[in-house]
Amino acid sequence: MTDLTTILAGVRFPNPVFTASGCAAAGQELDQFFDVTALGGVVTKSIMLEPRSGRATPRMAETPSGMLNSIGLQGPGIDVLLDKDLPWLAERGARAVVSIAGGSVADYANLASRLRDRPGLAMVEVNISCPNVEDRGQVFACDPQAASGVVSAVRRNTAPGIPVFAKLSPDVTDIALIARACVDAGADGLSVINTLLGMVIDTTTMRPALAGITGGLSGPAIRPVAVRCVWQVHQALPDVPILGMGGIRTGLDALQFLLAGASAVSVGTTVFGDPTAPVRVLAELEQALADRGVEHVRDVIGLAHGAAGHLVPEGPDPVGDEPAAAMEEP
Ligand code: SIN
Repeated sequence: MTDLTTILAGVRFPNPVFTASGCAAAGQELDQFFDVTALGGVVTKSIMLEPRSGRATPRMAETPSGMLNSIGLQGPGIDVLLDKDLPWLAERGARAVVSIAGGSVADYANLASRLRDRPGLAMVEVNISCPNVEDRGQVFACDPQAASGVVSAVRRNTAPGIPVFAKLSPDVTDIALIARACVDAGADGLSVINTLLGMVIDTTTMRPALAGITGGLSGPAIRPVAVRCVWQVHQALPDVPILGMGGIRTGLDALQFLLAGASAVSVGTTVFGDPTAPVRVLAELEQALADRGVEHVRDVIGLAHGAAGHLVPEGPDPVGDEPAAAMEEP
C-alpha cells in the first residue's frame, strides 16, 4: 500500500486526512464513531478568547449539494479548550490543530500565546476568514494588510516548531495575493478554503432563511471553487504547504485536492450526514492511490500542474490527422 505520511511545514503527520474546523467540535463527538487518532489531525472548531453564544437562530439552511451556516463562532472560549479539549486530544495521542479566531490583532496574539507550549498542539490554524462576523471589516482574509497583521502577530507568539496556517477566504478577487501576504508575514502554510458567503430566502415567509441573513456555504457545491483556489495558491507558492478543504465527500474528492497542490485535506460538512466520513475518505484515498500505483502520497501533491502526458495513454495528436478545413465542416 501507499506510504501516506505527509509533512506540513516540518511536522510529520501519519496521513493526509484531517477533520475540518467547525464540523467536529474538538473531536470527542466523533470518537464514538471511530478512533480519532486514526486521522492525520483533528482540527478544532475556531476558538475565541471568551465563551460566545454565536448568532441568533435559525443559523443553518440546506442548499443544493451543500449547506449554509451562520453559527457566528459559538464556542466555550480558550480556557475550556486549554483545560478540557486539548488535554483530551493529547491523552488520546491525537494531533491537534487548534483553530483560533478573534476580533482584533491583539485577540489573535493573545490566543496564540495562551496556546504556547501546550502538550498535544501540532499546529495552529488562524481563522481570518469567518464570513459570519457582524463587521465585514473583520474578515481579515479579504485584505492583504489586515491578513498580514494577524498572521505576523500569531507567528510571533507561537513556539518556533509549531506551524501556523492561515485560513483563506474564496471571496476575494485574487486569492494568491492574500496567500502571499500571509506567507510574507510568517505563515508556514495555508488552509484553503473557508466557506463562501451566501444567502437563502424562504419563499414561504418571504424573508431570509437565516436570522443572520447571510451565511457560509459549504459542502460538495463548493468543491470546484475550492479545488480552483488550491490550484491557484499552489501555482503561485509551490513550496508552501496547503491544507485543502471544501466539499470533500470521497477519497477521489480528496485526491483532486492533492493533485491540485494540497499536502493534506480536511473533511468537513459531510460528517453531519456520515460521522465516519473522515476515516472512510482516508480508506478510499489509500485505495485510490494504490490503484494508481502511487508509492508515496507526496508523489501526487501538485501532480496535476505538471505535464499530464505520462498519465494519459499515448494516442494520436488530439487534433488528429484531419485537415483543418474538414474540421470546419458543419
Ligand atoms: C461560524 O462559526 O460562523 C463558522 C466559522 C467559519 O466559517 O469560519
